[in-house]
Amino acid sequence: MTRRRKREWFDDDAFWRDLYPLMFPEKRFADTPEEVEKVLAMAKPRGKAALDLCCGPGRCSIALAKKGFTVTGVDKTGFLLNKARAKARTAKVRIEWVQMDMRDFVRPNSFDLALSMFTSFGYFDDKTQDTAVLRNIFASLRAAGVFLIEVAGKECLAKIFQPVTSDVFPDGTILVQRHEIFDDWTRIRNEWILLRKGRAKSFKFHHTVYSGQEMRDKLEAVGFVDVRLYGNLGGDEYGPDAQRLIAVARKHGDPSL
Ligand SMILES: C[S@@+](CC[C@H](N)C(=O)[O-])C[C@H]1O[C@@H](n2cnc3c(N)ncnc32)[C@H](O)[C@@H]1O
Repeated sequence: MTRRRKREWFDDDAFWRDLYPLMFPEKRFADTPEEVEKVLAMAKPRGKAALDLCCGPGRCSIALAKKGFTVTGVDKTGFLLNKARAKARTAKVRIEWVQMDMRDFVRPNSFDLALSMFTSFGYFDDKTQDTAVLRNIFASLRAAGVFLIEVAGKECLAKIFQPVTSDVFPDGTILVQRHEIFDDWTRIRNEWILLRKGRAKSFKFHHTVYSGQEMRDKLEAVGFVDVRLYGNLGGDEYGPDAQRLIAVARKHGDPSL
């Protein structure tokens, strides 16, 4: 069931369309098969049914499908799902694409592996909705299924935090990023200003940033067990040198049931 809700920043297709070249350069796609190898080495799923939640342009979905997984990619942005469909056609893989809000997608006892990659979590003003998403994921996993989530961890962010940064891209586009921490160090407000061909365009978005402990607590609160944290996809500890927050969490149960 899809509910009517107030519009938020992530509901705007133009946001994803305009930022697509910066978020999803070819290198990100080229690096994905290796990333997915690492994901599988960490998660060790016991079967081949995978959910790629907030799949975007399908980079992980396609890499999983190429490895023989039956993949369902869920995302609410039509523009990105169209990219995903086109890329899957080129890659000659079949994937089920579902256009739905992550708060609404639940398919009980259906997946051995669920992924949430590249900071696709924490978007809602009401933090209990993040919990609702985790509850859906938990329900959608089969017994002994595994969930891997990869986000910008609060500890990583605190270490590198700068209120303003700027980058120049190969096509000459300049990206100025402004960041502000609010809500007692639970959330970050971002403004990305794109300077392209003498024109400036601003994009504002905000999301919750979870610490390792907060992520673990949230996962355990919905029933996950054996929650392990890592600081990169290579499986290094979530310690002082962590670049990302990765949590791997299991659903209890006997997979043969
Ligand atoms: C940073 S992108 C990551 C995409 C993909 N996971 C990857 O690793 O390439 C975040 C994705 O979340 C999707 N998204 C944002 N809000 C959503 C929501 N409420 N429900 C479903 N998808 C959402 C966006 O459309 C976008 O594809």
